[in-house]
Amino acid sequence: MSRFISCEAGRLEPYTPGEQPVDMQYVKLNTNESPFPPSPKVVKAVSQAELLKLNLYSDPTCGQLTRAIARRYELKPEQVLAGNGSDELLSFAFRAFCGKGKSVAFPDVSYGFYKVWAAFYGIEANVVPLKADFTIDVDDYMDDHGTIVLANPNALTGVELPTAQIQRLLEADRDRVVIVDEAYVDFGGESCVPLLCRYDNLLVVQTFSKSRNLAGGRLGFALGDSDLIADLNRVKYSFNPYNVNRLSIVAGAAAMEDEAYFQKCTAAIQKTRTWTTKTLEELGFTVLPSRANFVFAASKSFPNGELYRKLKENGILVRWFDEDRIRDFYRITIGSSEQMEQMVEEIKKLLGEM
Ligand SMILES: Cc1ncc(COP(=O)(O)O)c(C=O)c1O
Repeated sequence: MSRFISCEAGRLEPYTPGEQPVDMQYVKLNTNESPFPPSPKVVKAVSQAELLKLNLYSDPTCGQLTRAIARRYELKPEQVLAGNGSDELLSFAFRAFCGKGKSVAFPDVSYGFYKVWAAFYGIEANVVPLKADFTIDVDDYMDDHGTIVLANPNALTGVELPTAQIQRLLEADRDRVVIVDEAYVDFGGESCVPLLCRYDNLLVVQTFSKSRNLAGGRLGFALGDSDLIADLNRVKYSFNPYNVNRLSIVAGAAAMEDEAYFQKCTAAIQKTRTWTTKTLEELGFTVLPSRANFVFAASKSFPNGELYRKLKENGILVRWFDEDRIRDFYRITIGSSEQMEQMVEEIKKLLGEM
């Protein structure tokens, strides 16, 4: 830290993103990206004509993209806000719905950014332990009248919370906002989008980074009652009005409109997830039931980060968190079937050496 840093910035505990190494080519199974390229329609949409418009600012309303998202989810454009990754929209939501006297609650094992944003904005955080089996019990949140944020399926674990349980939370206190982070919902999860017409205290946040193969395009979207979206816009226009660049707007609209490609890619991931889960279980791993594009798995043969380190030496990256409760687990992105076979072969070799 320099001697110029403010007290506020000095106190921050930044989020640690998954490794993005450039020293060598890894089989990258550590940041839940898609192994498939963007839709061919996206490649076409990001044309030279669009590139030649980069001297001009992008549309601050992201009209083309917002309309494509609204059509896909059968909502009004006023119920949609696009952002520079869903991270940006979640951060806007923390600012919009939490503050003095308005706390935020989330599970202890979940997306690591929630506690970072709470600290960034000086919001009181109520961190609620998951049950021993890594499930969420919504009764643990019933007496909390601040904002609640739940990743569903949960990040890190991949475990799904039935939407009927989320509905109980929405019903129990209509004056509390429930943010459902559906970054991984397209891999077989149940979405809360159909509940939007009944609950004006529900905000659903999704991303183009996983199921729509556009992590590098940095695109996410929030869906909710038009008043909630107006609140998010208030934050956005106080921070970065041109938050989505021209190329990502056209890329996102094309990705959203290519339903067939989306279905094909997400189905392939689910099939590979089933194979990976079964194979890891046969090798003695405990694998939590996942509805995401990753599995969360532990093995007595590889405690405390051992598998992460050994695989990395052999050119395969998975994610390991040196944190209480999950120190013996590995979060493994579901890549292509070839990538998963390569990882399994490497694990078999390591087991053979023991
Ligand atoms: C649960 C969850 N929410 C949000 C994000 C952010 O995604 P992005 O900013 O790429 O849209 C991630 C990224 O991995 C995630 O795991």
